[in-house]
Amino acid sequence: MPAKRIFITGGVGFIGVNAANHFASRGWEVTVFDNFSRRGVDINAAFLKEKWPDAVTIIRGDVCKDQKALEQGAETHDAILHLAGQVAVTTSVKEPMMDCEQNLLGTLHVLEAARSVKNPPIVLFASTNKVYGGLESIPVREEENRYVFADGRKGATEEEPLDFHSPYGCSKGAADQYVRDYARMYGIPTVVFRQSCIYGPHQLGVEDQGWVAWFLIASMLGRPLSIYGNGKQVRDLLYVDDLVRLYENAIEKIDTCNGRIYNIGGGSGNTLSLIEFMEHMEKALGLKPIWTRADVRPGDQPIFVSDNSKAKKELGWEPKMQLKEGLASLHGWLRENMDAIATMYRP
Ligand SMILES: NC(=O)c1ccc[n+]([C@@H]2O[C@H](COP(=O)([O-])OP(=O)(O)OC[C@H]3O[C@@H](n4cnc5c(N)ncnc54)[C@H](O)[C@@H]3O)[C@@H](O)[C@H]2O)c1
Repeated sequence: MPAKRIFITGGVGFIGVNAANHFASRGWEVTVFDNFSRRGVDINAAFLKEKWPDAVTIIRGDVCKDQKALEQGAETHDAILHLAGQVAVTTSVKEPMMDCEQNLLGTLHVLEAARSVKNPPIVLFASTNKVYGGLESIPVREEENRYVFADGRKGATEEEPLDFHSPYGCSKGAADQYVRDYARMYGIPTVVFRQSCIYGPHQLGVEDQGWVAWFLIASMLGRPLSIYGNGKQVRDLLYVDDLVRLYENAIEKIDTCNGRIYNIGGGSGNTLSLIEFMEHMEKALGLKPIWTRADVRPGDQPIFVSDNSKAKKELGWEPKMQLKEGLASLHGWLRENMDAIATMYRP
């Protein structure tokens, strides 16, 4: 049987490089399509070239500009994993038009490429829990070091009303709806994943995005951190290996998940507040974070925890990596690559 083929937009970014590595190790032929706009991703491209000189092909291209390349990708691959986009809420607030072009129009270009071919590939889309806005209808209680859901629920399900907040929430949320609707309107097999915070090796976090990696990198380099608000914000964290395993699972079970949407995160067993993470860095990882407080950022949810029940029930998926081991793994990767990272993060 010929190898299955996957086309990964944004494929030298953090999730993309992990996905490319995963699929290649499972015998897939992988095409990575990326415009290299994210600072530092050359390190990820070099990793893929060295580890997978034959199984992974890297194309430099832009989802907003290179329609022919996308169409060719759709024609020649079994699946498209669409990860390319503008990823920071703060940038979206400063440049909403650019954010919309990258995230909404970029996604439409990918969907149209899939629609243009006779046998459309499966399209998987990385959406975000930000489509639920601040979850204001869920009561929240403030405890000493963290917020908790006051009604005892474990997490937010897909039944939460959509409430796009911030241009990033709007552009990703609108794209998420288009992806789902292309399954209904045009019969393109699509799946949407509303992802919580993802973390793991190859994450080149910055203050504006990828906060877990950024907190570690800043602390390793002795750089100050800003804590926006009181630091009690809670997030569920999902290790990237668990996510990429789910992507493959969804392709295999496309008859079950076609046209569906899933909340995907570390879940209630893998949560941290910012304050708790600082403590963890000190006690478990021997780091000494330096930090100052700043005003709450617009659209910042006090607590988000994903209820993964639907993915568990329909796809048999749940996170395997425990938070402590996952954080140690990311820390280990950062230490191994510190020389290159220190150069990249020079002020
Ligand atoms: N990391 C998370 O915690 C998280 C959570 C929810 C959703 N997501 C979504 O997952 C996707 C991947 O996130 P990530 O953390 O790997 O981000 P990333 O910035 O590391 O990767 C995105 C990649 O897309 C590329 N890119 C940007 N615009 C492009 C364009 N126009 N054409 C081609 N390539 C382009 C960048 O160069 C980068 O390599 C994004 O769509 C993001 O919104 C991420």
